[in-house]
Amino acid sequence: MANVITSKKRPPTTHPLSPLEIVTTAVPEDERVWVPQAPNVWFRPLMLNTLQGQWCNLLRVRKSGVLSRHLHPAPVHGYVIKGQWRYLEHDWVAKAGDYVFEPPGETHTLVVDADVEEMITFFNISGCMYYVDENGKNTGYEDVFTKIDMCRAHYENVGLGKDFVDQFVR
Ligand SMILES: [Fe+2]
Repeated sequence: MANVITSKKRPPTTHPLSPLEIVTTAVPEDERVWVPQAPNVWFRPLMLNTLQGQWCNLLRVRKSGVLSRHLHPAPVHGYVIKGQWRYLEHDWVAKAGDYVFEPPGETHTLVVDADVEEMITFFNISGCMYYVDENGKNTGYEDVFTKIDMCRAHYENVGLGKDFVDQFVR
């Protein structure tokens, strides 16, 4: 986290109301930065965009982890950094170095198979994660605001302080 830009200094050509840039080590050295989401599933916030209802994060899933069945009403872009994963609903496997586009309305269940130690993927998510059961009935949701709430609770809990997440909020 050493290279997070915290300076309020601005070059003279930048408008004083423009938001600060974010430059940070994406895969953190401090394990506490990973926010637990489900058994064997964590996310690491990078940018939490409250004005457009969008967020960027790393998703980390260790072997046999499952990200519950969900759909997105808006596009999702992913870039696999490490390991591999797949959707139960598709026959392809996303591997390190692959780009994945999830079109609006796409429903899927992300799994990491038992022979994969760990996967890490960058996701740029718009709108929300709309969780559904096998009949398509809604079982819950996540959006940029629930993500911020999860981060605040976790960072408070692990001693980083609830305000730790503020550096990623825009
Ligand atoms: Fe998804």
